[in-house]
Amino acid sequence: MSVLLTGGLGYIGSHTAVEMLEAGEEVVIIDNLSNSDKKVTNAIKEITGKDFKTYIGDVRDEKLLRKIFKKEGIDAVIHFAGLKAVGESVKKPVEYYDNNIGSTVALLKVMKEYGVKNFVFSSSATVYGKAKKMPIYEDFEIGGVTNPYGRTKYFIEEILKDLYVSDNSYNIALLRYFNPIGAHDSGLIGEDPNGIPNNLMPYITRVATGKLECLSIFGNDYKTKDGTGVRDYIHVVDLAKGHVKAVKKLRGNCGLKVYNLGTGIGYSVLDIVNAFNDVCGGKVKYKFAPRRAGDIDECYANADLAYKELGWKAERDLKDMCRTSYNFEQKHSK
Ligand code: NAD
Ligand code: UD1
Repeated sequence: MSVLLTGGLGYIGSHTAVEMLEAGEEVVIIDNLSNSDKKVTNAIKEITGKDFKTYIGDVRDEKLLRKIFKKEGIDAVIHFAGLKAVGESVKKPVEYYDNNIGSTVALLKVMKEYGVKNFVFSSSATVYGKAKKMPIYEDFEIGGVTNPYGRTKYFIEEILKDLYVSDNSYNIALLRYFNPIGAHDSGLIGEDPNGIPNNLMPYITRVATGKLECLSIFGNDYKTKDGTGVRDYIHVVDLAKGHVKAVKKLRGNCGLKVYNLGTGIGYSVLDIVNAFNDVCGGKVKYKFAPRRAGDIDECYANADLAYKELGWKAERDLKDMCRTSYNFEQKHSK
């Protein structure tokens, strides 16, 4: 049987494809290349030495989905495909609802037609909004989201919960990612955003390689140890391995499950800059700038449940995250 990875040529999807293939799984990818490159297919093949099928097309295209389900013997789906830029989602809410929710609904319809009931969803720590306490546990209240991107994640979680109530023979894993950074050790795949990066690590690596002048640290008056924002950064390869475990769990008929995928450690922006400089022998130029709208003081996980139930925990440390991010940027970025 094969696992369908929607958005499998993107940042997290491509790393997951590698880990799945290396775990002996058959993989099929569908991606519309809206935020990725066809070349990633070859990179995945080069890393793993394994072959797999890639369909270039949109997940909202039900006809194409039917063709894939008919042909490929899919027994589980990992749904990465989606738009993910918070700022852009405020300017283009309809596109975000259409793409993120539309693709999920199309998939669920076609999965039902083909009797496929194992589903992993790429959710986000953003669904917790501004949590009252740290660390964040899976049973904390969700829904206090402040932007259309975050709302698509929250709404999709609710859709999947409704689906499970209607038919509890589904097996669904809602994986709430914290802040994925880092890249594959090979430097062949990684995060390569178009234009000026919104997220911290791609911005740092581009300052380090001279493509950008200076990092603006958004706010130094947060209620944190050094005043800068604290997040739970997780190596993308660790995150990818979590998906391999989640698919195994689904096949054991687990019902609906929610897991935080994080390290449980909160690092500040200055911690990241300092670790990066230590590992990469550079001096990333930075200045303090006003807070970014919508940012919160701190956000880090308790990830014990994933360890207890999936046997998964993050193993790579911050140095490794910095080293591999820099390696990828040096080798590949435009
Ligand atoms: P990404 O943009 O690198 O990958 C998404 C992939 O989906 C891209 O290759 C894109 O071309 C494809 N895609 C988008 N819409 C599509 C559609 N309608 N049909 C087919 N393909 C489509 O993003 P990523 O960082 O790999 O994130 C993967 C998932 O994880 C997303 O759903 C994202 O919201 C979620 N997530 C990401 C983060 C993060 O920090 N990267 C954090 C939490 C959650
Ligand atoms: C953001 C999104 C979140 C999404 C995640 C992954 C917001 C409000 N949240 O999380 O929904 O799931 O990305 O795509 O955008 N920072 C700087 N300078 C920069 C960039 C970032 O100081 O140039 C700081 C931020 O203020 C924050 C930390 O670095 O404290 C991490 O920021 P970022 O990488 O954008 O991730 P989040 O904001 O946590």
